[in-house]
Amino acid sequence: MLQPERYSQAEIRKIQRACCRVFMSEKAMRSVVVSENQRKVLRYPFLEQLTYEEVKRAYRSNVMAYHPDRHQDKRPEDIDFFARHLEGLNDSYELLTTVFKGKRPEETATHQGRSRIIAVGGAKGGIGKSIFAANLGMQLSSLGFRTAVVDLDLGGSNIHIYLGLNQIPETTLNDFMNRRIASLAGAVVRPAHGPMLIAGNNGELGAANIPFQTKMRLIDNIAKLDADYVILDLGGSTDFNTLDFFLAADLGIVLTTLDQPAYLEAYAFIKTALQRKLNRLFGADSPFPARSNAVLKQIVQDGTRPPDNDHPRTIQDLLAAVAHEDPVSLPLITDEILNFSPCLVINRCFDRQAALKVAATLRSVACQRLSIDINHVGTISKHPFIEHSTSYLHHPLVLRPGAERFNDEMRSIAGTLGLIR
Ligand SMILES: Nc1ncnc2c1ncn2[C@@H]1O[C@H](COP(=O)(O)OP(=O)(O)O)[C@@H](O)[C@H]1O
Ligand SMILES: [Mg+2]
Repeated sequence: MLQPERYSQAEIRKIQRACCRVFMSEKAMRSVVVSENQRKVLRYPFLEQLTYEEVKRAYRSNVMAYHPDRHQDKRPEDIDFFARHLEGLNDSYELLTTVFKGKRPEETATHQGRSRIIAVGGAKGGIGKSIFAANLGMQLSSLGFRTAVVDLDLGGSNIHIYLGLNQIPETTLNDFMNRRIASLAGAVVRPAHGPMLIAGNNGELGAANIPFQTKMRLIDNIAKLDADYVILDLGGSTDFNTLDFFLAADLGIVLTTLDQPAYLEAYAFIKTALQRKLNRLFGADSPFPARSNAVLKQIVQDGTRPPDNDHPRTIQDLLAAVAHEDPVSLPLITDEILNFSPCLVINRCFDRQAALKVAATLRSVACQRLSIDINHVGTISKHPFIEHSTSYLHHPLVLRPGAERFNDEMRSIAGTLGLIR
């Protein structure tokens, strides 16, 4: 029997993913989807009762069912997909075997050799996303990490101001989007203090309305920037561009304040980001072309529509429908859900207890309705020295008198996120 309490959250997620792949059934779904009550009383009932015999049996039966040799009559892309599925199945079986031998799942280094992308989002303007992104950049660059901040608030770009620049740099993101420069790296500017910057220019007509292809080219080039960390400062809405930038990151941070509209919008942002992620799985731009399928697409669309009064829609219902229609697609969708674990920061906090309550409520609702975990990684106080500053020129925030507590809070969050040691 497994003892889930021995493992970290990240390790549990790896074990859950492996279970979904090995079982591909309702049973596996229960490793992902647990109700709030179960989580409180018995955190992972499926894992706690799992035996190695069951794992072996499920593995063998799925190898038999999905071995590409048995599907030679299918479309080439399906055969290819089954071959990849088999690889995943073998890796998952190996991982579960290791765990049942009492060892920890191996660390997988996913960021080696490329920058780590951190998105700062959360619907609603004016809650401090840009201040947070700019200062996270300053903290990381002051510790010697090569850090770049990208202004992706296409309609409201202003992060250059928080980084101490009094005007929009000559070359910006827009030059890349309009193909005036070939690579995004050509838009990097280096302010006197702090991180590298790729600024935006929302004064240009149409800057906020970019076509899908431009967005994809932008995301592709962001991943190629030569830096340890790339921080994306997002706009305050749930339009597809903003959601796609958020989803392109390795780490997604959602900001809110204690204002009710702000935390309701933070939840809406998280929910729509997950819906967007799932809706892209089986559609025309699916990352798994062999699974792009009108029936599955419709199932996800139906499953992520607003609920009607009689039928609140949950992720459980959606997974059950996918498992029924095409079991081999189940691990794809459960992987997406398990890999989606946004981090929450509460900004402009004036009451610690209220902040803990807001974080706990968001976490509980997200767990129940979306089957995801929201990680509350820290709180930033309401700082008069930020609120009352009239200009950031020549004095980036971290260097200002009175900024010590703010710096401590930012560093603590960076530590909790595992960005610094
Ligand atoms: N921790 C804080 N304490 C006090 N004021 C803050 C704090 N964070 C942000 N602000 C204020 O909120 C305003 C909006 O911040 P900004 O980062 O531009 O928001 P957003 O990017 O979410 O639109 C800023 O003018 C700043 O003065
Ligand atoms: Mg902003």
